[in-house]
Amino acid sequence: MTTIGVGLIGTGYMGKCHALAWNAVKPVFGDGPRPRLVHLAEVSPELAARRAGEFGFDKSTSDWRALIADPEVEVVSVTTPNAFHAEMAIAALEAGKHVWCEKPMAVALADAERMAAVARGSGRVTALGYNYIQNPVIRHIRRLVDEGAIGAVNHVRFEMDEDFMADPEALFYWKSEASSGYGALDDFGVHPLSLIQYLFGGVRRVMAQLGMPYADRPSRDGGRRKVETWDIASVLLQLRNGASGVMALDRSAWGRKGRIAVQIFGSTGTIVYDQERMNEFQLYSASAPAAEQGFRTILTAPVHAPYEKFIPAPGHGLGFNELKIIECHELLRAIGGEAGAQIVGFERGLEIERAVHAMAQSHREGRWVEV
Ligand SMILES: NC(=O)c1ccc[n+]([C@@H]2O[C@H](COP(=O)([O-])OP(=O)(O)OC[C@H]3O[C@@H](n4cnc5c(N)ncnc54)[C@H](O)[C@@H]3O)[C@@H](O)[C@H]2O)c1
Repeated sequence: MTTIGVGLIGTGYMGKCHALAWNAVKPVFGDGPRPRLVHLAEVSPELAARRAGEFGFDKSTSDWRALIADPEVEVVSVTTPNAFHAEMAIAALEAGKHVWCEKPMAVALADAERMAAVARGSGRVTALGYNYIQNPVIRHIRRLVDEGAIGAVNHVRFEMDEDFMADPEALFYWKSEASSGYGALDDFGVHPLSLIQYLFGGVRRVMAQLGMPYADRPSRDGGRRKVETWDIASVLLQLRNGASGVMALDRSAWGRKGRIAVQIFGSTGTIVYDQERMNEFQLYSASAPAAEQGFRTILTAPVHAPYEKFIPAPGHGLGFNELKIIECHELLRAIGGEAGAQIVGFERGLEIERAVHAMAQSHREGRWVEV
């Protein structure tokens, strides 16, 4: 396969990230098929045509089903709001396309189960937008954990905080609607859960409490609308590997811009990472001389693959969009039949969805719930 035809549905925040990734993946990695940007869909013909011109797509439409029916499209990026993921991804798979779908997989668990079942029967490749597992730092942390650099992992803490909902007067939008899901759990929680799955194999049981800091928000029509989602979640975890864990999520945390703080406590050391400083991590080793014990900060460099594909110089740093380019490359490796591609397909994504719904159930029933 020398080329692959790409369709893109949605051109907001994530749509642009996917478009950048499809444009950059070949120049960055050099291998695999060259993406041909075939067809783009948006809500209006005008917006679709404008974005197609900006992103470099040949055709545009306001009917996403026309994009999926296009025989030139071989892989579809689904970057629309959560409520559309199941319908669009299933239609694309049934039309024989590979699918790269943004997180969360779906709003209802039954929809996620259908997506996994259709993917299983389709023989096509699926990938979810769990970009944070693609960070060369996270890959190196996994290597360190697997090699026993901090001994047996006893306890982990994951905090994901941003402040885009912190202002009580921030406008009501689709993330405040129940049709988008529970709120912080499926908007944020799925990301730490993808890291937990990648680093430790997943979650066995959960105990959660959800919080709604503001009961209503101003709406576009000048009135106020009742908020339907939970911006805060506090969760106790038991991991599959036996370790205990804590996950704290907050979309209304003033001052936090893109925090995903990870602490991994082992029997001989600790690893600390924060997405807000995504080009470094800290390692504490109890084997260092007592007078010199402390956290060492390690900056990313070409030795942390695939950093070297972007920049030959150490310490210069990658950004969020580079994670999406790596994710795109892993998807293309999987489509090409390569073993070991690091993507979360719909099958493994369903495990993350089960954990999210177990957390919501735990909140409703006030008890531990098995995943
Ligand atoms: N992986 C990540 O780190 C990450 C970050 C942010 C958002 N997301 C996910 O990406 C998805 C989109 O979020 P966003 O922030 O980009 O939203 P957004 O509102 O910026 O963009 C959504 C786009 O979809 C378009 N759209 C809506 N309905 C459509 C339809 N029927 N046909 C064609 N286009 C349609 C909208 O016009 C809009 O341009 C969400 O599921 C969100 O959870 C993932």
